[in-house]
Parts: sequence; structure tokens; C-alpha cells
Amino acid sequence: MENYHPASKRLIIRKLIPSDADDIFEYRSDSEANKYQGWIPTTINDVHHFITHKISPEINLPGTWVQFAIIKKDDDKLIGDIGIHFLTVDEFQVEIGCTLNKKFQGKGYATEALKATISYLFERLGKRRIIASIDPRNQPSIKLFERLGFRKEAHFRESILLNGEWVDDMVYALLKDEWR
Ligand SMILES: CC(C)(COP(=O)(O)OP(=O)(O)OC[C@H]1O[C@@H](n2cnc3c(N)ncnc32)[C@H](O)[C@@H]1OP(=O)(O)O)[C@@H](O)C(=O)NCCC(=O)NCCS
Repeated sequence: MENYHPASKRLIIRKLIPSDADDIFEYRSDSEANKYQGWIPTTINDVHHFITHKISPEINLPGTWVQFAIIKKDDDKLIGDIGIHFLTVDEFQVEIGCTLNKKFQGKGYATEALKATISYLFERLGKRRIIASIDPRNQPSIKLFERLGFRKEAHFRESILLNGEWVDDMVYALLKDEWR
């Protein structure tokens, strides 16, 4: 694994590590704030299991997810995470998602963290297409990805079983040529 990690003016983006579990549990366990997310831990052990079993220690392996932590530079606080899914279709496409601790929303941190991560994916890892899967009711997420230049490419009807309910899914995408 390469040691390089994305960074921006206010943030450091690095891989999630087991000692991040408490910070992750603090906001990921909030089922109301994360109602459009598939993974909501109910115990700290769920988070430990997620970090040690569900995410890949190695970046860029097709078929795996890697999870980055978003860290504030000024006080080292972990304020959110970014999931990256290395798709199996080919080595040039990834799916991305972002979750922020509610206390740190509305300050531009997700936009800033994703910009740094998108540059990293296009420029360092050589990706050429990034997609995001968004619940049509998730307005903050739609705004976030449109702000970053993603275009809506698809709207699937009741294609995802989310917490026991069949829900719609929209696919947004960004090509390397469209970035910047
Ligand atoms: C999706 C999510 C990460 C978006 O968070 P967010 O706080 O709205 O996004 P940002 O951190 O980029 O902040 C943008 C907002 O901060 C404002 N802002 C304040 N200070 C700012 C600054 N210095 N720079 C940029 N924007 C700033 C922007 O105007 C914008 O406000 P607006 O939405 O009212 O227009 C968040 O809603 C979330 O974690 N949701 C739960 C998890 C989820 O559903 N994730 C989606 C899965 S794909």
C-alpha cells in the first residue's frame, strides 16, 4: 500500500484504523441522521467488526471497499468518513460515499474532503469514472454531489432493499475529463 494520503486546507484524509472506533460509533450509530445508509452500528463491536472484517487493508483491490477517515487538522478530531468501492467492472471505476458527524455538517467539510479524495482517485490512482449511489430523498447528498460536478445518470425504481424497505436509487457520475 502506498503511504500517500489526500489532504486539503483544513483536513487530512487517511485510512480508518481500529482506534477510530469510538469516533465512528459517535455519529454512525445515529439512525435518524443516517436513515439513507445501509450500515448503522448498534454497538461498538459492530464498528470493530466493520473495521477489521468489512474493509480492505489494501487500497485499489477490485471488489473491495476502503474507508477513509476525515480528520480536522486543527485539533485531530475525526469528523466523518469516506467509503470507496473499487468496482469489479474494470480497474478504472470506483463508487464513493461520504458521512459526516452531524455536529460538523454545514461547514463545507464534506465538499472539501471529497474534492481532495476525487483528485487522489483521478490523478494518483488513475481512475476515469467515479459514481455515487444516492437515495432520491437524500437532499443534502444530492446537493453535495451536484456541487462537486457529478451528473445524474440514472434513477432506478425500488432497486435497493434498505432497512427492510424497497427504495429508489439514483446513480450520479463524474468523468476525469469533467473534473476541474
Ligand atoms: C451528505 C452529507 C455528508 C453532506 O454534508 P454537508 O454538511 O451538507 O456538506 P458540506 O460539509 O460540504 O457542507 C456544505 C454546506 O456548508 C456550507 N458552508 C459553510 N461554510 C462553508 C465553507 N467554509 N466552505 C464551503 N461550504 C461551507 C455550504 O454553503 C453548504 O450549505 P448548504 O447545504 O446549506 O448549501 C451529510 O448530510 C451526511 O453525512 N449525511 C448522512 C450520511 C449520508 O446520507 N451520506 C450520503 C451517502 S452518499
